[in-house]
Amino acid sequence: MTGKFRWSYDPEGRRCWQDPEAILAGIGLKAGFIFADIGCGNGFFALPAARLVGQTGRVYGVDSNSEATEDLERRAAAEGLHNISLTLARAEDAVVCQACADIVFFGNALHDFDQPARVLANARQMLSPRGRLVNLDWKKEPMEMGPPLHKRFSEDEAARLIADAGFSIESVAGTGSFHYVITARLESGVGTVPETAIDNSGLIVT
Ligand SMILES: C[S@@+](CC[C@H](N)C(=O)[O-])C[C@H]1O[C@@H](n2cnc3c(N)ncnc32)[C@H](O)[C@@H]1O
Repeated sequence: MTGKFRWSYDPEGRRCWQDPEAILAGIGLKAGFIFADIGCGNGFFALPAARLVGQTGRVYGVDSNSEATEDLERRAAAEGLHNISLTLARAEDAVVCQACADIVFFGNALHDFDQPARVLANARQMLSPRGRLVNLDWKKEPMEMGPPLHKRFSEDEAARLIADAGFSIESVAGTGSFHYVITARLESGVGTVPETAIDNSGLIVT
């Protein structure tokens, strides 16, 4: 991250502009679900997801940064959360399970991957046939924080990447002031993107 704002791993500060519980509820995460958090960092989403899916569910976290995964491991242990499985790897090389995930989630991460198409191909393998891919990322607009504009994907660019990887776009919506959420399902016909609908008032329009 560059600019005035450096990536905040302080969950309390970040909560002012991103509410992980509300976002996870908005994307339909429920008790018993399998949640694959790709580019999980130190668990801003993975930890609340683990609380939400509970003992009967599981969170798979993948990240290439050992500092982040170790921090997440410590925080999960401190909370007594035993339903998180972490993989230290590049997302381009990681398929943590086959057709198991109810939700494959990218939180502020798709723009960071070196080869997003390859990561999306792996997501295709991990997603269960009825599962949902969720891509939460920074809007491609000038703002005081977040990654540099040239690194970001607009909603249309991200939706195209996702559709080209074999998903059908289900919804595109704004969330908070700085982010959008795209949800998608596995699809048989590859490459279709419906007209983009942005709703800045709510989490997701389905
Ligand atoms: C901006 S942070 C977001 C972390 C977390 N999802 C969140 O919202 O707090 C992006 C994360 O993606 C990870 N990352 C970047 N490139 C990666 C790659 N190729 N494979 C796996 N993780 C990667 C980084 O280490 C970092 O933890």
